[in-house]
Amino acid sequence: MSGVIVFGAGGRIGRAAVDEALRRGYDVTAVVRNPDRHGDLRVAGARLRGGDVTDPGSVAHLAAGHDAAIHAAYDAGSPPDVFFPAAARALVKGLAQAGVGRLVAVGLSALLETPDGTRLLDTPVFPAHHRSFALAHAAGAAVLHDTSAAPPDWLIVSPAGDFAPDSPRSGGYRLSLADPTTSLTPEDFALALLDEIDTPSRHRVQIGVAPQGN
Ligand SMILES: NC(=O)c1ccc[n+]([C@@H]2O[C@H](COP(=O)([O-])OP(=O)(O)OC[C@H]3O[C@@H](n4cnc5c(N)ncnc54)[C@H](OP(=O)(O)O)[C@@H]3O)[C@@H](O)[C@H]2O)c1
Repeated sequence: MSGVIVFGAGGRIGRAAVDEALRRGYDVTAVVRNPDRHGDLRVAGARLRGGDVTDPGSVAHLAAGHDAAIHAAYDAGSPPDVFFPAAARALVKGLAQAGVGRLVAVGLSALLETPDGTRLLDTPVFPAHHRSFALAHAAGAAVLHDTSAAPPDWLIVSPAGDFAPDSPRSGGYRLSLADPTTSLTPEDFALALLDEIDTPSRHRVQIGVAPQGN
């Protein structure tokens, strides 16, 4: 059985990724900062571990023996311009040490291109108060873009718009440029994450996904 490790497994997207990976028959390790708060992940069938996605040693130790990793971590308590680059650097180093070949990271719609090629972040409709957070995400993505061709083979998957936890899942998704009019359930989004682990089709780029049919 192949192994997938999910960093940020206690969050909205991380939980959906764990569920979808279990549903597909993967051996899943769910990494959270405090396992005592997330015992339900163990009940669901994942191996629950405490760890820190910003610490390369923690990443390497936990990821050993896995085939792929998902990065869905976000720490609202630390400055985003520190957290996202630190997590990206730790994942690149730690996963390489652990021999994990594939990294699928959750990105931000603001960094996707609009139809004229401008990033959503750089368009007049983008809210100014979200700009610094988007730039912090971009700094994390830049760490991945700056890597050589050595493993891990990474991919950033972003919602084209936003997440809609309360919407019905469509059971599918489509690739999309930035489209703030769309909202995707975490469950549908997780299909894209796991498809790119099952059969990697895109490499060292960012893609956007929207709900099927709208
Ligand atoms: N429109 C968009 O593009 C959009 C919208 C929403 C979110 N996002 C992105 O999606 C990603 C996931 O967001 P989310 O809403 O699922 O976040 P979330 O619900 O806040 O979950 C994040 C998880 O990461 C865990 N975590 C925090 N620091 C960690 C660390 N150092 N090591 C390991 N785990 C850590 C958190 O704490 P515990 O481990 O304690 O549980 C939490 O469970 C983020 O990158 C976010 O920016 C994009």
